[in-house]
Amino acid sequence: TPLGELNSKEATIADLDSKYIPPPVGTLPPDFYHGYSTAAFQCEGGWDADGKGPSVWDDLGHNPRPAPYDMRNGELGDDAMNSYYQYKEDIALLKSYGSNAYRFSISWPRVIPLGGRDDPINEKGLQFYSDLVDECLANGITPFPTLYHWDLPLPLEQRYEGWSNTAEIIPDFVRFADVMFAKLGDRVKFWLTINEPWNVVNLNGHLKPTFKPERDTFLVGHNLLLAHAHTVDLYRKKYQPTQHGKISIVNVKPIDDTPEVKELQKKRLDFAFHWFSDPLYFGTYPPSMLATVPQEQLPEFTPEDVKLLKGSCDFFALNSYSSMYVTGKECDNPAGGNVDTSMFDKEGKPVGDIRGCFSWLWNAPWGFRKLLRHVHERYTGPTGHAIYITENGFPTDGEHHRRFPDLLHDTERQNFFDAYLHELSEAVEKDGINIRGYMAWSLLNTMEWYCGYGPRLGVTHVDRENGFKRYPKDCTKVVKAWMESAIRKG
Ligand code: NOJ
Repeated sequence: TPLGELNSKEATIADLDSKYIPPPVGTLPPDFYHGYSTAAFQCEGGWDADGKGPSVWDDLGHNPRPAPYDMRNGELGDDAMNSYYQYKEDIALLKSYGSNAYRFSISWPRVIPLGGRDDPINEKGLQFYSDLVDECLANGITPFPTLYHWDLPLPLEQRYEGWSNTAEIIPDFVRFADVMFAKLGDRVKFWLTINEPWNVVNLNGHLKPTFKPERDTFLVGHNLLLAHAHTVDLYRKKYQPTQHGKISIVNVKPIDDTPEVKELQKKRLDFAFHWFSDPLYFGTYPPSMLATVPQEQLPEFTPEDVKLLKGSCDFFALNSYSSMYVTGKECDNPAGGNVDTSMFDKEGKPVGDIRGCFSWLWNAPWGFRKLLRHVHERYTGPTGHAIYITENGFPTDGEHHRRFPDLLHDTERQNFFDAYLHELSEAVEKDGINIRGYMAWSLLNTMEWYCGYGPRLGVTHVDRENGFKRYPKDCTKVVKAWMESAIRKG
């Protein structure tokens, strides 16, 4: 059944049935960036429009593979949320949510369909991002583009196994970045190179039958780091002096919390978080990786690499959702240091909702605060860098089983944002942490990778059956009112 029209009466905060905590007043600086995030494959659709080439994710949908290398329920990202055609509506939504920042990603195969450094540029694809940036700016929204949010051009995977090939992938990625800096850099002042490299390693492992853990796990990570470092080097030399933008990588960490197994917890933190930040701040892999990964699996940084890596970010971009426990057992995941984690507490009770794809996601605002402190102590405090939260969000329990318009009353998600924003404000005020931006995940419901359209983290409902019509969920009002109160007037 087609969705009805949303009741035009604007709900006020008082009408919402969440456990609403009054927002703080004036705890955030006047130039605080706030808004929402998306990614190309998850939202754009138009998978082959105007000369776009296929990505590895398009291929995964179109050429199904046996489990576990499959899209879990066969859904395709071909049209996703149709943002390629409806981006102006998306920007209008952001504006109506009071946002002044938008994080989106650039589809590499839309811009360079064959992907490689000598391959032709698809001018229409390139123009799309230029128009998107213009639309943002015309509406007072600062763009935060991510260069790589997992949609590798398929030809590069076929030609040379993508991220497993040091000699090929790095110059190819840097050339793609060069094209984007040249086209958008006059207007873009915040660049993000690679989204959650740790998950690129994991997804490569989970989705590619050709992935060999001993050969690829740390090599893929190494190549992601070097691709980042070379990109930043190019930006610093060729563009930053005149364009005056900032650049960083996006790291993610579901922080672990089990004091009894401190040593294992430290190891897990080294693998799942410090792996992609220590090289940028200290020019080296974290201690327990160096101590435990067999030498032939973990490539060494050359002195030249160290020079490029160390200091290769201007701010800290952090995705954070949830927390998990270290169990004290070993497991078979080299990317996590073989340290087992669990969503069960010490008595064996589930701490979150165990629902397939989102077993890792539960409401743990204390973990968010802990993580912010950790980033501050280890990285941003000593360097004076700012932290930007580039993702944070929540899939309302079973939202896809609920009817329209009921599902717009997303009480759980409102409580989630309330609680996390409360911790964010405390981190700024009480812990003195320099946080300059917060972009929640996600502006729209999205195509959640191999989980398809089931999990819904968006703050906007999209009716995919009826013209991809967009409907704001109530949490947008909570976040808007919160920001209006928390941000000091300039
Ligand atoms: C992080 C990823 O960057 C994003 O693509 C994904 O949708 C969210 N996590 C939720 O799983």
